[in-house]
Amino acid sequence: MTETRKPIPFVDLARQHADIEADVMAAIRGVATEAAFIRGPALGAFENSFAALHDARHGIGVNSGTDALALAVRALGIGPGDEVVTVPNTWISTAFAVSHAGATPVFCDIDPDTYQMDPAALERVITPRTKAVIPVHMFGHPAPMTAIEKICRARGISIIEDVAQAPLTRVDGRLVGTIGDIGCFSFYPSKNLGGYGDGGMALTSDDALAARLRQLSNYGQNEPHRHQEIGFNSRLDTLQAAILLAKLPYLESWTAARRKAAALYDERLADLPVKRPVAAPGAEPVYHLYVIEVENRDACLAYLRDNAVMAQVHYHGVIHLQECYGDLGYRPGDFPVAERAQEHILSLPIYPQITERQIDQVVGTLAEFTSGKAR
Ligand SMILES: Cc1ncc(COP(=O)(O)O)c(C=O)c1O
Repeated sequence: MTETRKPIPFVDLARQHADIEADVMAAIRGVATEAAFIRGPALGAFENSFAALHDARHGIGVNSGTDALALAVRALGIGPGDEVVTVPNTWISTAFAVSHAGATPVFCDIDPDTYQMDPAALERVITPRTKAVIPVHMFGHPAPMTAIEKICRARGISIIEDVAQAPLTRVDGRLVGTIGDIGCFSFYPSKNLGGYGDGGMALTSDDALAARLRQLSNYGQNEPHRHQEIGFNSRLDTLQAAILLAKLPYLESWTAARRKAAALYDERLADLPVKRPVAAPGAEPVYHLYVIEVENRDACLAYLRDNAVMAQVHYHGVIHLQECYGDLGYRPGDFPVAERAQEHILSLPIYPQITERQIDQVVGTLAEFTSGKAR
């Protein structure tokens, strides 16, 4: 590097905090003053606000997005001998949720342009043991819910949506997270709505499922000291709930800012030999990630990072070939679309506060690499 370039972080949470510091610190002070750290008033307030935003009857705050998925699988009564279908290009938690319940994760391939579950591939792997499908709204684009719903509803198969990367995404006019039986959200700090630590939420409009989710997440109790089943300690901390409640009013404008940044990337990348994100008809993405495809991805990633652009890959490795799932018997080539994509995809920095200048620097550095003028 001959000149010093200002680093462009992958996400800039310090910058976000600076913008909303007064709101967040007031929220923290409120919880600390009341000393209501577990199941305090801010938890109920946040659960209700987040559920209302989605027009869902119930929101159950839990420890993490991982737990929201794991409890959702159990709340549906899924266990040993059952199969649950998901995609192989998601974060590992989606599959772990199935395994931890004693059921078997089954994978199906994805669409090469949107990276979402391919409904035709889903249909091919359904068996009489299939109890649920977990469509994942990958990268902040929606899974094709209309087609998935049609397949599942006709067969009595439950749907758990993994909305970790996609709050406020719409598909065919509907918000994701309330289309299936349960919608599972993550508030991991870098998510579109991120806490100051781990956090998650399950949304449902089914009263019985909501009661089961709440019971499972609170030591299996349906009332204090009555343990109806063997449960978990998985509650959203009141501190996190208060912070998330303070951040929630910003989610809409942050989403608009992400869309604006994505549109700028789309425009600036038009003449470069990279594949830009593809929104399916009827999709209204929220760009949790801005994912491109590029030749020589690993060299490109290294070049960007050496030149102050902190790009990432989501994710290195597909789940069906991970060591922990060796006993499922999958082989390379089983899901060629997901496997090919996983070798070419690259996530460029995107966050609501990213500036046009920063985007130009990212694109300029990428152009150096793709034109062979890498320094
Ligand atoms: C698609 C997907 N599912 C599940 C999770 C798990 O969420 P958490 O990190 O809150 O456990 C994440 C995020 O990490 C994710 O991206």
